[in-house]
Amino acid sequence: MPPQQDSARIVFLIVLTFWIFSSPDNGPLIAGPNLIKDRLARQRAAHGVLNSTRWGDFDPTPTTSDAQATEPKFLNLTGFRERDNLAWDDLGRFRQKCDEWSLNAVGMPEAAQPVWQNATGVVHGLWHRENGSVPRFHSDYNLTEISPNITWASGAFEWSRNITGPAGKMLVRLEDDEAAGTEPEVVDPLVLHETEVRAREVTATITLEDVEGSGSQWDMRMHGVHWPRQGAMLFTTTSEKFAGIFGLPHLTSRPDFFETSQALLNRTLDKVLSKKEQLFFLDQTDPWASSSDSPSDVFNPTAHCEYLAYLQIHPPDKDYLHVQPSLTGPENIVKAIHEIEEELRFPQGISHLGRPRLQMSAVLYSPDCAFFLESKGPPAYAPADGMHLQGMKQETFLYSITVWLIGLGLVVFGQVQLLKLQMRETSTPSTLGRISFYTASIMLLADGTVFIGSIAWSLSASTTLLPSLLVTGASFLAMMTGNIFLSEIYKVQEPEWRREERDRERQRQQTQAANAARYAAEHPPSSTTTTTTTTTTTTPQPALPTANIPVIVPSDQDVDAEIAEVNDANTNNNATLPAPATAPNTNATATTASTSTPLSNIFGRLIMCSTLILFLTLATTGWRPGIRAAYFNLLAFGYLSLWWPQIHRNAYRNCRRALAWPFVVGQSILRMLPIAYFYLINDNFAFAEPDWTSFAVLAGWVWIQIVVLVAQSILGPRFGVPKGWMPEAWEYHPILREDSIEAAGLPIGLVAVPSSPATMERVKTGDEGVSSKRSNVYSTQCVVCRENLEVPVIKAGDEDPTAGGVAGVLARRVYMVTPCRHIFHSDCLEAWMRFRLQCPICREELPPL
Ligand SMILES: *[C@@H]1O[C@H](CO)[C@@H](O)[C@H](O)[C@H]1NC(C)=O
Ligand SMILES: *[C@@H]1O[C@H](CO)[C@@H](O)[C@H](O)[C@H]1NC(C)=O
Ligand SMILES: *[C@@H]1O[C@H](CO)[C@@H](O)[C@H](O)[C@H]1NC(C)=O
Ligand SMILES: *[C@@H]1O[C@H](CO)[C@@H](O)[C@H](O)[C@H]1NC(C)=O
Ligand SMILES: *[C@@H]1O[C@H](CO)[C@@H](O)[C@H](O)[C@H]1NC(C)=O
Ligand SMILES: *[C@@H]1O[C@H](CO)[C@@H](O)[C@H](O)[C@H]1NC(C)=O
Ligand SMILES: *[C@@H]1O[C@H](CO)[C@@H](O)[C@H](O)[C@H]1NC(C)=O
Ligand SMILES: *[C@@H]1O[C@H](CO)[C@@H](O)[C@H](O)[C@H]1NC(C)=O
Ligand SMILES: [Zn+2]
Ligand SMILES: [Zn+2]
Repeated sequence: MPPQQDSARIVFLIVLTFWIFSSPDNGPLIAGPNLIKDRLARQRAAHGVLNSTRWGDFDPTPTTSDAQATEPKFLNLTGFRERDNLAWDDLGRFRQKCDEWSLNAVGMPEAAQPVWQNATGVVHGLWHRENGSVPRFHSDYNLTEISPNITWASGAFEWSRNITGPAGKMLVRLEDDEAAGTEPEVVDPLVLHETEVRAREVTATITLEDVEGSGSQWDMRMHGVHWPRQGAMLFTTTSEKFAGIFGLPHLTSRPDFFETSQALLNRTLDKVLSKKEQLFFLDQTDPWASSSDSPSDVFNPTAHCEYLAYLQIHPPDKDYLHVQPSLTGPENIVKAIHEIEEELRFPQGISHLGRPRLQMSAVLYSPDCAFFLESKGPPAYAPADGMHLQGMKQETFLYSITVWLIGLGLVVFGQVQLLKLQMRETSTPSTLGRISFYTASIMLLADGTVFIGSIAWSLSASTTLLPSLLVTGASFLAMMTGNIFLSEIYKVQEPEWRREERDRERQRQQTQAANAARYAAEHPPSSTTTTTTTTTTTTPQPALPTANIPVIVPSDQDVDAEIAEVNDANTNNNATLPAPATAPNTNATATTASTSTPLSNIFGRLIMCSTLILFLTLATTGWRPGIRAAYFNLLAFGYLSLWWPQIHRNAYRNCRRALAWPFVVGQSILRMLPIAYFYLINDNFAFAEPDWTSFAVLAGWVWIQIVVLVAQSILGPRFGVPKGWMPEAWEYHPILREDSIEAAGLPIGLVAVPSSPATMERVKTGDEGVSSKRSNVYSTQCVVCRENLEVPVIKAGDEDPTAGGVAGVLARRVYMVTPCRHIFHSDCLEAWMRFRLQCPICREELPPL
């Protein structure tokens, strides 16, 4: 077993282990039950503070305009205490901003415009940063004092989620679940729409991209409260150094928000805590953790900046709602919104024009790192600079994913059809031998990656399960078909690789022998015995096959060996052919077979490759946006370079065309379509920025490869390739010269045709202007079709300047001359050679096309 395969397997195992242990939903590693108990006790105490405090109990910056100067008031909650030293000076500013942004979006609180009641969806947009009024650095905090008994993983280092750049991007995923706790409490969800829900629990995953600052990207999961009537949402992060969710009611800007949220959280947090207290041994996750890698956080959590986030939903587009002009009262709009949301969730077939947009404005405030992040948009910014956060409601989002998945399924299915067409076309060993193994491998690799990816997706998808199953099925079909195709190609081409390997091995042995001889010559004869032993031990190749192989094979003899190999393959499939004459060769291949790569290994490598690609792609979420874009561009470029190996093989094998044109064109288009979606469509579900330039480069690259394939087919596979770059191959379309008659160079049976004006004319037009002055016309009978074959032959002593040009090349495409000097129509011999690599006349072996 060659060592590099072992190492490949080890790398695979390491990656797999790493993945299993870093997977977030793999459950926690076992944490000490005492740690969990302590944490639950702390949370229980925090809940006690929540249910026993009133509006105004947390007032870090009392307004001095009051008649009596009041003391600042703090809460006995982690992070809300005075000694914790958080930058609460800006809380007033945060509350003011919240009110201001709500006012800008929906108007006065008493007459607020109706908004979407269900905030579930995805929005994204730009933010800009503002300094807090007091600076805070991580040295301002004593973590052991804020949270005794907690060992922080990064106490001495900078905290994560510390935004330093002036602007960046953010993506917010909202889960506004019907099953979440509501205030007033509604036990039966069917009654939900009858009673008005004043507050509801929501969660959001906010992704912050600090493009200009640290260049990193952070995900955080925040929990909070949604007030559906006002369309306002307040979220906080919760950690060991900040009891965010327990203090949330005190961070709201209005007393009515405080009351509803306190009543809601009093009840729901108590419920969650009671359940956790019962199951503290089994369920060790922190229900309010803000990072997904919570298991290790139990032991030593990493410190990060805490956030408050206030989101305000904007009213939906009036044109979209289609409320009659006479009925624009708020209750009619509320009704229209309700109807649309019902229709989106439970479609009844009522059509709506276009897709409902979800728009929100956001204010983020970090009380410990002391800065604000605000979404860019009017009135502070011109609409061209940003429209706050825009996106789609969940149903629309899922719809676009579904459409894309179905499209992908159909595309993959189309690829299978094209592949089947190609397999029918190339069903014989000689035609299979022309196809590049690597082109087929890239296709199989891509299909396999789609297959593994769609399986992983289907396992976690609930709403898009059916379309993802479609993709899984189609890609499974594609993978199996591609698998069969690749193994057919492998069967035919493997002997060729073995021969090349043998040649290399032999070359190495020769140089070794030469070195040994030189060494022996340079050193005294007393050491000869040791040198001979070293040479024999350093050559692992058994002596028997080397002895059977002719010592030096010049490059032109390679062709013969190649024929022999193809015949080997032929005899495997076609017993009617005569056995190959090169028996020692077969003997040698049998003994060296153990050193060649078995097919299963190749599939193993492909699977490993696609798994690695998937992991790497998953890992890109933590990369700088520029590097990530470069990675995806590079990946797409590598994928779309799939014709390049075929171009190389065409030149190497001197074969003009291996693949059917419908296959080449169809595969190129089908494989570019799913990629084009992300590069060209503005509202794509991955929220990738359209990048027309990159896509133009990719499409141009595919186009260039196809043009080269076409040029190879018309002008010859080695057109433009310098001589000597490729191994010699038999030239089936030689320039025929009269002066080589004496040297017996002209094909057998060619007879000069007396130059009649008619034939001259025909040659002129038919052969695209080969000068009739310089070439005579010869003719013979083509044995395959039994029709006349006329070829131009250059007069003795004449140099033909057009011979190397395009016209000359095209003229020579008409006929083919075999190494045994028989001449045929190109079409006739090519059709013949699809089945037999033998001369139709003398049954001599033919070099493959
Ligand atoms: C407040 O919460 C604490 C801890 O959850 C509980 O023991 C206490 O009974 C609650 N107080 C009231 C008035 O509900
Ligand atoms: C919290 O809930 C308990 C019952 O679960 C209730 O007795 C208490 O009044 C509530 N406290 C507040 C401040 O709503
Ligand atoms: C704050 O709460 C802790 C328990 O969480 C308690 O030991 C401490 O006495 C409280 N401090 C005040 C000032 O109430
Ligand atoms: C924010 O504060 C930093 C230093 O703390 C300073 O360099 C920067 O200019 C400030 N930005 C603004 C917009 O004031
Ligand atoms: C956040 O980053 C700034 C600038 O790099 C740094 O001065 C500050 O200490 C950091 N804050 C924390 C809490 O790490
Ligand atoms: C942090 O607080 C702990 C306990 O109060 C104290 O022992 C330690 O010296 C403090 N560290 C710093 C850097 O102030
Ligand atoms: C810290 O842990 C010790 C031992 O587990 C415990 O006695 C003490 O009360 C804890 N302190 C806090 C503030 O939780
Ligand atoms: C909002 O819509 C989503 C998706 O249709 C649904 O899962 C969720 O339960 C809805 N929430 C409410 C409060 O209706
Ligand atoms: Zn013919
Ligand atoms: Zn022949």
